[in-house]
Amino acid sequence: MKTLTNKRIVLGVSGSIAAYKAPDVVRRLQDLGAEVRAILTQGGAKFITELSLQATSKNKVHNNLWDNEAELSMGHIELAKWADAILIAPASANTIANLSAGKACDLLTNVVLATDAPVLIAPAMNQQMYASSAVKDNLSVLLARNIKLISPEFGEQACGDVGEGRLTEPSKIAKQVSEVFSSTKLTGKKILITLGATIEPIDPVRYLSNHSSGKMGMALARASIEAGAKVTLIYGNVSIPLSEESTNILVGSGEEMHQAVMENIKDQDVFIACAAVSDYRVKNIEKNKIKKENTELTLELIPNKDILVDVCKLKQKPICIGFAAETQNLIENAQNKLKNKGCDAIILNDVSKRDFGFKNDENEVVFLTKKYSQKIEKNSKQIIGRKIIEIIVEKFL
Ligand SMILES: Cc1cc2nc3c(=O)[nH]c(=O)nc-3n(C[C@H](O)[C@H](O)[C@H](O)COP(=O)(O)O)c2cc1C
Repeated sequence: MKTLTNKRIVLGVSGSIAAYKAPDVVRRLQDLGAEVRAILTQGGAKFITELSLQATSKNKVHNNLWDNEAELSMGHIELAKWADAILIAPASANTIANLSAGKACDLLTNVVLATDAPVLIAPAMNQQMYASSAVKDNLSVLLARNIKLISPEFGEQACGDVGEGRLTEPSKIAKQVSEVFSSTKLTGKKILITLGATIEPIDPVRYLSNHSSGKMGMALARASIEAGAKVTLIYGNVSIPLSEESTNILVGSGEEMHQAVMENIKDQDVFIACAAVSDYRVKNIEKNKIKKENTELTLELIPNKDILVDVCKLKQKPICIGFAAETQNLIENAQNKLKNKGCDAIILNDVSKRDFGFKNDENEVVFLTKKYSQKIEKNSKQIIGRKIIEIIVEKFL
């Protein structure tokens, strides 16, 4: 199973003889669906070339904190935010000591300090070094900071010694990285998510629609699946592949989406209305293609049913979360929507910004309930999706 689909992994490669296995670690992470960017320390570069990591990861390799071009956009912070997880494999005794001391002495240690993503380290060194109290003490400091240890294996080493210190097999490392993302917080819970844009026909060839890509809905779906939920997606027009681990129901118009939601809402624990449903539909859909004429054409529009409102009115309603795509008076409009629709929370989305929101891979939102408001700063939709699901679990489940 592709347990790392859409996951962004920063792989730190430090100065251990086992660094020659790092390209294989990249490949095994990719086998599970991950995108990988590598950071090569100065020590690491003594053992493998930047080129082999670049060729396998298909991304530029980062090796220098003092890179003027990368730091124009604060490269080390960007990498720290980009990462869904940071894996250091192999992790040298020196890098482990630097991390334990909280040092920011090279690109890798800076990125680790600047991230809120999980960090995993896979030490590899001579067995006597690994058994030393200095390394053991440093590792226990890191474990206390929630850094996950991928313990080295026992066996014959490059130096001829036999003992504990060999880098764990790359496929096992990749598996342990994927386990970081599986949680049981939503095990046994059912989540229904609508996503994408609805399509309101005008005639057999033309329609009214909007710019929604479905990316935010898919990020929420993946985060829910990661947390163990059973997910149903009711989707309109989307520009991204859907998860294979959810039940996916394709619809066209807002009316079809309304009907599909009502047919599938029973027994759901959470409903997230993320689709951009057209507020209006064409009253009289022409059976045949409308012919071009040199006169004005008026389309009469009538309102679509409000799916979120109707779900919120159900006697046995699930936790209902709506999205408010706003361009002005953001908080005020979102608070009105929360009140008028009767839902449990609204996720406010500023769609006036060009660098995030509609169609983009990034977003910035505010999670609003009657008593609570939390801004989730600009980040990839994957990470925003995960944070939203965490808040839903914490506040409602
Ligand atoms: C031939 C050779 C092999 C080495 N192998 C290891 C090793 O397997 N593990 C380790 O922790 N250090 C090893 N070292 C020492 C590190 O390369 C050295 O501490 C370096 O400064 C680590 O830099 P970094 O942590 O910034 O990558 C080795 C050094 C040499 C010369």
